[in-house]
Amino acid sequence: MRSFLVAGNWKMHGDSAGIKQLLSELLKALPAEPGIDIAVFPPAVYLAQVAAEMAATPVAVGAQNVCAQAGPGAYTGEISAAMLTDVGCQYVLVGHSERRSLYGESSQLVAEKAKAALTAGLIPVVCVGESEAQRDEGQTLEVISSQLVAVFAALTAAELKKIVVAYEPVWAIGTGKTASPEQAQEVHGFIRALFAKQDEALANELRILYGGSVKANNAATLFAQADIDGGLVGGASLDAQEFSAICRAAE
Ligand code: 13P
Repeated sequence: MRSFLVAGNWKMHGDSAGIKQLLSELLKALPAEPGIDIAVFPPAVYLAQVAAEMAATPVAVGAQNVCAQAGPGAYTGEISAAMLTDVGCQYVLVGHSERRSLYGESSQLVAEKAKAALTAGLIPVVCVGESEAQRDEGQTLEVISSQLVAVFAALTAAELKKIVVAYEPVWAIGTGKTASPEQAQEVHGFIRALFAKQDEALANELRILYGGSVKANNAATLFAQADIDGGLVGGASLDAQEFSAICRAAE
């Protein structure tokens, strides 16, 4: 049985005081013993603060990015997977579309980051998704497949068992345009089938999150799809009521 995961990607938002308040509101709003996994992904400078405050709670912590090199070493400005583990992270996002498009991250680099994360004991949430132009050209499945082929090439079968995949159509991120449950299910089913070609049992256990304008009012219908195992939530994760409502929709 796959357990649901609802993950909040805070992106580059927040400050110490605001985060303290958001966490306290979130803990009040969430069920004390949620029947799902919940994680928040603050900006790197706040990871230690959030991990310390969430230590005795059901909320896990993840980073938004990681260095592909294990290090330690001369990689100015980078943060290693071991450092993320050290400050209390359990997860890390790799290959978010904003990193692919704004910072030129290739699928090869994303796969190397996933490998580095796994080596340090982190769960990588590997993000994939097509742009609007690619969808209009009918290339969606081809794009997703090419993004995942690099991951299949870099990771061992044992490592693939530990990852989470997030499908985030780029045109649905921050736009208020959610993929319809049918559109999302089509891609999620395709992703599971790709993994099944590697290993059927692994595919059945794989958690595939949907991301892209997930809100309290659309979460339940998305989460009801056969191959959607939770959400990667951006804007709505900055609002405790909204995020906790999304978590409840997944329960
Ligand atoms: P929004 O939920 O704001 O569309 O962001 C989605 C996302 O990019 C999460 O990683």
